[in-house]
Amino acid sequence: MSDKCYLEIDGKKIELPIKKGTVGPSVIDVRDLYKNSGYFTFDPGFTSTASCQSDICYIDGDKGVLLYRGYEIEKLAEKSSFLEVAYLLINGELPNKDKYIEFSDAIKNHTMVHEQIRSFYNGFRRGGHPMAMMLAVVGALSAFYADSSNVNDPKEREISSRRMIAKVPTLAAMAYKYSIGQPFIYPDNDLSYCENFLHMCFAVPATKYKINKSVSNALEKIFILHADHEQNASTSTVRLAASSAVNPFASISAGFSALWGPLHGGANEAALNMLKKIGSVKNIPEYIKKAKDPNDNFRLMGFGHRVYKSYDPRAKVMQKACYEVLDALGKKNDEVLKVALELEKIALNDDYFIQKKLYPNIDFYSGITLSAMGFPPEMFVVLFAVARTVGWIAHWSEMYSDPLNKLNRPRQLYIGKNKREFVDQDKR
Ligand code: SDX
Repeated sequence: MSDKCYLEIDGKKIELPIKKGTVGPSVIDVRDLYKNSGYFTFDPGFTSTASCQSDICYIDGDKGVLLYRGYEIEKLAEKSSFLEVAYLLINGELPNKDKYIEFSDAIKNHTMVHEQIRSFYNGFRRGGHPMAMMLAVVGALSAFYADSSNVNDPKEREISSRRMIAKVPTLAAMAYKYSIGQPFIYPDNDLSYCENFLHMCFAVPATKYKINKSVSNALEKIFILHADHEQNASTSTVRLAASSAVNPFASISAGFSALWGPLHGGANEAALNMLKKIGSVKNIPEYIKKAKDPNDNFRLMGFGHRVYKSYDPRAKVMQKACYEVLDALGKKNDEVLKVALELEKIALNDDYFIQKKLYPNIDFYSGITLSAMGFPPEMFVVLFAVARTVGWIAHWSEMYSDPLNKLNRPRQLYIGKNKREFVDQDKR
């Protein structure tokens, strides 16, 4: 493998270094291209651009491989807890027992939010989307924690990281409770991270809430699957915001904004709404036809992926977790699941989807699962964000210890008007 390549422009031969990673595609280092040639690269949507170097997460889209710090997602989902995976993503190694206890205790001791934050929710319409509440209150945390906002201080970064991982589930549960007009439920630190989240969402003061272990175990898996995914749109948004050295809460709030979109984290809500709209197996052919019609902007939500051009490895684990939850809750005859299974079968055998390499992604089964757990569709992306906060934090921390880190400032291909004289209004 060569360590350099050449570009010939306007009769000039420019040498470009090639950087090789541990595994996966090497990169052509174009950092000096503009200085040496006067040319920018052009890559809308960054389909061929490595925005940074990272050792957190590796995806092989053709082989359907996903590794967190080198560990296969399937193994972590089967053998780990979400907090253990959070430790791995942030610190690079799986924790031993002592390190795990220190980390999980630290998270538990930060689960409560300042009482004044409760009043933020009163300003929202109860029917408003919970993500509108989340990106507001997460950003508002920066008004409460000025003592841990210096992003250049490793100790303050650690405190903010643990505060974010601990408080985002509490804020998410508060957004849900507020939207259904029920009282907020305080965290119960005798419960595990996932049990505590379910408890804050579904417990009511009037009765004792009983944790369904099958559901909390499935939620561990779901959070692990959603924890990180390389330089996806929302993680790249967090990195770009954080490159200005703004406080951590503002950067993570930017991640919430990007994740909300239906092409990204909002796809699970859109996928379930699509399955409900299809309604029954007999209507599937009509929707498959719409998805294939170039003049119809309908897309099969939960299908396709920018990187995975084979099956999303998370979708397989998600499908298994879906069966487990529906089974545990006695909902295996769920009509929506029947539509999903038939739609997947048809799509996986249809030439259009095979040729375009469109396979179910993680969002295809997550909606059915979360709906069976009792979450409304608008909460699906909030749960995605609770889990992805860990990945955002891991990348946020990594960039500050990267010597290549600098303010992100892309350039452009300007196609607007050249310089022209101003014309007074009475002469236009
Ligand atoms: C997530 O980046 C990540 O890692 C994201 C994520 C994470 O963990 O962070 O994995 C989470 O966001 C998963 C993706 C969830 N989104 C959806 O399920 C929405 C539906 N899928 C798409 O809109 C689409 O597949 C994207 C946006 C996800 C990816 O699309 P690309 O890579 O930008 O490719 P494209 O839109 O150019 O599509 C390629 C072709 C097009 O046809 P042509 O223009 O070549 O004729 O495939 C077609 C598209 O029309 N196509 C679909 C389709 N997705 C793409 N046709 C029908 N149904 C679909 N779902």
